[in-house]
Amino acid sequence: MTHSMPTSSFAARAAALAVAALSLPMPVSAQAPLKVGLMMSYTGTFASPSTMAERGFQLFVQEQGGKLAGREIQYVKVDDESDPSKATDNVNKLIRRDNVDIIVGPVHSGVGLAMARAVRESGTLMIVPNAGADAITGAMCAPNIFRTSFSNWQTGYATGVAAARKAYRNAMTITWNYAAGNEMVKGFTNGFEAGGGKVNRNLTLPFPNVEFQALLTEIAAQKPDLVFAFFAGAGAVKFVKDYDAAGLRRTVPLMGNGFLTDGTLQAQGESAQGLVTALHYGDVLDTARNNAFRKGFAAAYKVDPDVYAMQGYDAAQLLAAGLLATGGNASRRDDMIVAMRKATIDSPRGTFTMSPQHNPVQDFYLREVENGQNVVKGVAIKALADPGRGCRM
Ligand code: PHB
Repeated sequence: MTHSMPTSSFAARAAALAVAALSLPMPVSAQAPLKVGLMMSYTGTFASPSTMAERGFQLFVQEQGGKLAGREIQYVKVDDESDPSKATDNVNKLIRRDNVDIIVGPVHSGVGLAMARAVRESGTLMIVPNAGADAITGAMCAPNIFRTSFSNWQTGYATGVAAARKAYRNAMTITWNYAAGNEMVKGFTNGFEAGGGKVNRNLTLPFPNVEFQALLTEIAAQKPDLVFAFFAGAGAVKFVKDYDAAGLRRTVPLMGNGFLTDGTLQAQGESAQGLVTALHYGDVLDTARNNAFRKGFAAAYKVDPDVYAMQGYDAAQLLAAGLLATGGNASRRDDMIVAMRKATIDSPRGTFTMSPQHNPVQDFYLREVENGQNVVKGVAIKALADPGRGCRM
C-alpha cells in the first residue's frame, strides 16, 4: 500500500474535494455578513424621507435579532445628493469597490433610473424603497430589480380617481419638473379625466426649487375647482405653508398624493389641517400589524414613522423572503428572485404582492389631515397595479 499519489491524480482529487466543499451548505454562522448598500439622498430636500426609509429597513432587521436568515447585515452608505449625474459613479462604487450583495435605494426618481441602468448590467439585486420612476418596473424592468413603494403613475392615478369622485371638474397641477412630478401629473390626469374631470394647466418649477410665489399668484388668478400638487420632504413643508399664507387654503381646494403631508405634518402645523390626499398608507390604519410597526418604530427612534419608513421596512421584509428561501445564501440569486416574486408581504399598509414587473399591487387610501395625523377615511382604489408598460422579462 502506498501513500504516495501521482501529482496529477492528487490534484484532481483535491479539485473534486474543493468542488464538493463548495456545494455543501456552509454553516450559517461561518458566512461573512451580508453587505447591504444603502444609496439615498441623505442631504437636501429628501433627507428626511431617506433617513426614514433607512430606519424602517434597519428596524425590521433589528426585530429579527440583527440578522436575516441567519446572516449578519453590514451596511455601506452612499449619499446620492438627489443628483442623477452622479448616480452611475455612486452605484458602480457600491457594486465594484464595496462588493455589496444587494442595493437598497433610492428616494429620487432621476437617481433611480441611473441605478436601474447600472444593475441591469451587473445583475446586482436592487430593492427600491421609494423612487417611483415608472420605467424602473416598466421599460427598464429586470429580474433583479424590485420595488416596495409605488410607481409614480399609481399614486397620481389613485388621487385623480378620488378627486373626480368628489365632483371637482377642472383642475390645475403644480410640481417639480422631473420624472416623479411629471409622471404623477400624468397619472392624476388619467384618473381625473376618466372620471369626467379636465386638467387645464400644468405648472412646474425646477427640482428642488421652492420659490412658489409666481405660480401661486397664477393659481389665484385662474381659480380652478382644484389644484393637484406633488411635492415631498422639505419642499412639501414649504409649499403647504406658502399655499396657506397666500390665502389659497380657503379659496382653492388642494389635493395631492400623500407625499404632500407624509413626514411633514409637524412642520406644516395648522396649514395642513383638512388636506385630503391619497396614498398606499395612513398613520391611523388601525390594524394589529400597523400598530405594532408604529409602536416599534417610535420606541426605537423616538419619532413616529411615515410612508418612507414603512416602505423601507418592507424592503427588508422582501429581502428576508429571498434569503429565507436560500438559507441566507445570496449567491443563489435566481432562487432568491423566485421567492421574492412570489412573496406576500405582511406590510403595515396591508398585505401586498408583486406585479409581474415587480411593483406592489396595493390599495390606495383616502386620507385627511386631522390634528397632525393622516387619518384614513376610506379606500380611493383597491388593488391598483401599475401597467408596467414596456417591460419584457
Ligand atoms: C421620486 O423622486 O420618485 C419621489 C421622491 C419623493 C417622494 C415620492 C417620489 O415622496
